[in-house]
Amino acid sequence: MKRSRMTKLPRTLVLVGMMGAGKSTIGRRLATRLGVDFVDADAEIEAAAGCSIEDIFEIHGEAAFRDGERRVIARLLEGPVHVLATGGGAFCDPRTRAEIRARGISVWLRADLDLLLRRVARRNNRPLLKNGDMRETLERLLAERSPLYAEADIVVDTAEGPAEDTAERVLAALRAHLAERPELTADHAADTSS
Ligand code: S3P
Repeated sequence: MKRSRMTKLPRTLVLVGMMGAGKSTIGRRLATRLGVDFVDADAEIEAAAGCSIEDIFEIHGEAAFRDGERRVIARLLEGPVHVLATGGGAFCDPRTRAEIRARGISVWLRADLDLLLRRVARRNNRPLLKNGDMRETLERLLAERSPLYAEADIVVDTAEGPAEDTAERVLAALRAHLAERPELTADHAADTSS
């Protein structure tokens, strides 16, 4: 696939979507293409908490995890523009979603159930998938969360195949979004001139 020209990113690009959608893999490629850093919110949460996400869920519970997740994402959104991969539930928390919508450009990496299932089955470290039937849980979460993910600024379908192709489609959609929202680029010019 032909490589597109570089786009200047006026706000942090926030990847949202289900576990297994490829947010980290695509995010790393996007960051390289955009010439900015890549940050994984889950890794930042683990660093801030000093323990793994599995342990946070087990010891403190999901509500405490969501709280920490919201604080970490809010802090990251205040920092320099970058590409941010969020955990699957982040954009479903109303306050985290509001932060992302106010300060970032959100991209839903949409993938169908079979693809998600094939991807998540490779690792067994996700607390929400540990108990019960993995397919049923993923199917339920996908149904509950899709209307929320659909509030993202940009929606890109992912499929099996080279991550570079998906990254390229995200970049094309990002350029179209920025063309429709010239005020975003103007915001940035104002921010960086002060
Ligand atoms: C979660 C997804 C995980 C992680 C946590 C909760 C979710 O991140 O944040 O296990 O609620 O979907 P990934 O989407 O990176 O797997």
